[in-house]
Amino acid sequence: MTYHPWMTMKSWFYDHFVANRYDNTLAEVTEEFRRICIDNTSIEKGNTVLDLGCGTGLNQPILAERVGPEGKIIGVDASGNMLTQARSRAEQHGYTDRLELIHGDLRELENLVTIEVDAVIATLIFSVVPAWREVFSKSFAVLKPGGRYGVMDNYWPSPGLRLWFLSWTFAADAKRPGFEPLKQAAPDFKLEYHPPDADVQFYVAWGTKPTQ
Ligand SMILES: C[S@@+](CC[C@H](N)C(=O)[O-])C[C@H]1O[C@@H](n2cnc3c(N)ncnc32)[C@H](O)[C@@H]1O
Repeated sequence: MTYHPWMTMKSWFYDHFVANRYDNTLAEVTEEFRRICIDNTSIEKGNTVLDLGCGTGLNQPILAERVGPEGKIIGVDASGNMLTQARSRAEQHGYTDRLELIHGDLRELENLVTIEVDAVIATLIFSVVPAWREVFSKSFAVLKPGGRYGVMDNYWPSPGLRLWFLSWTFAADAKRPGFEPLKQAAPDFKLEYHPPDADVQFYVAWGTKPTQ
């Protein structure tokens, strides 16, 4: 794998230290929250959905079923090894016809995705990607007016040592309130914690881009 200067160190970390353990450690624990996020983003048949920092494509079997054969999923990630797994998953489940995977840096999103999309799904990405607020703005910019945006991630405002270490093994900073930019941008913003009283908190947030 060649690293271009604009590629992130985090992708290098994901390529070499995360990709081969990602699904084993995170698929099961996050499945319910992915579904809640995608359900609340109200994706319809024929929609085009941007899967922001798609990783190994854990959202994509659900998205493929929601958009149907007439729809499209655009997955962008900077880790080639994570994308290789997303491609294999699509081959196994039979939705390569509606999937486009783009190997690139989300900080350059305006050069990678040049069409408007009906929905954006951002799961476990704002705690990881550098310049996350800028990445949110760029992804919100490619969303059609009236389009839906869904976020799912961890938020631990004051993690203990165990949680800090767990976060570190995924190059994540779970102290980031990744839902905040959507709260500012979407008048119908909603947020839920799952479960509401645990020390490791997943949140799911969603909202609609105003039409004017
Ligand atoms: C915790 S994983 C989340 C993957 C997926 N969204 C999910 O829900 O399982 C974070 C992903 O962010 C990607 N990433 C980190 N920095 C990036 C960047 N600058 N541009 C694109 N992807 C990036 C990593 O390669 C990794 O696949």
